[in-house]
Amino acid sequence: MTVATEAPRILLDNVSVSYETPRGRLPVVDRVSLAVDKAEFVVLVGPSGSGKSTILRAIAGLNAVESGSITVDGKTVDGPPEHIGFMFQKDTLLPWQTVRENIEVGLALAGVSPSQWKQRIADLLALLRLSEFRDAYPAQLSGGMRHRVSLGRMLAYQPAVMLMDEPFGALDFQTKAVMGRELLRIWEAERRSILFVTHDIEEAVALADRVLVFSPRPARIVAEHQIDLPRPRNLRALRGSPDFSAYTRAIWEALGDTD
Ligand SMILES: Nc1ncnc2c1ncn2[C@@H]1O[C@H](COP(=O)(O)OP(=O)(O)O)[C@@H](O)[C@H]1O
Ligand SMILES: [Mg+2]
Repeated sequence: MTVATEAPRILLDNVSVSYETPRGRLPVVDRVSLAVDKAEFVVLVGPSGSGKSTILRAIAGLNAVESGSITVDGKTVDGPPEHIGFMFQKDTLLPWQTVRENIEVGLALAGVSPSQWKQRIADLLALLRLSEFRDAYPAQLSGGMRHRVSLGRMLAYQPAVMLMDEPFGALDFQTKAVMGRELLRIWEAERRSILFVTHDIEEAVALADRVLVFSPRPARIVAEHQIDLPRPRNLRALRGSPDFSAYTRAIWEALGDTD
């Protein structure tokens, strides 16, 4: 069990969000309260269109809340806060820049002094196993490699909070497994708060400290599962274990109950 010993990094208190549409107001998030600790990995699952991306966007200050409040490190979010990294399903690399230059964007945003860039880039490329591709352009890379570059850019930025919205959703099974393993390796070495959205229940259980199950729109939290699997996690061994299956089954059932 993770026990909250410090103030949470992210705190949502009774947050509701709705969109103005030509047909009127569309309620999308319904009084969601949640707290994420400083080193916690929380995964959100729920039917598509339920409002998960909207919640992440609200935390990133990209959507206004209708009622309730969001704080990051005790500060109310009223625009994009500093030290938040965002990673989407589609990579947002700059096609005319090389792998190295794309990662430098993260260093520049973080205000890292250019004298340190060379070393930081070398370290990140080694971590992501991309050293040989430092001068390649995104179009010359596989989808999995482009995702590693996106991850590298986010890590270069060194955010205290990582918001990851189906970041590996478009990847094939094997690449997704590799990315999950890399992310865990990095996160286990250097704990950050992560909020991660996925449709993949096995991915959710493999990665998370805690899985939150959302209802169809407007999003409410309908179940919460603490994943007490030991870390560091060996994903291959884990996937065959009875505990792993019990967690995935429980989450499937919670999702089924949202119909
Ligand atoms: N900018 C917007 N304006 C109007 N409706 C939106 C907007 N963004 C999302 N929606 C609607 O809000 C609902 C939730 O969207 P989203 O948060 O993207 O869900 P999820 O990420 O869970 O799939 C959907 O019905 C979607 O069509
Ligand atoms: Mg979404």
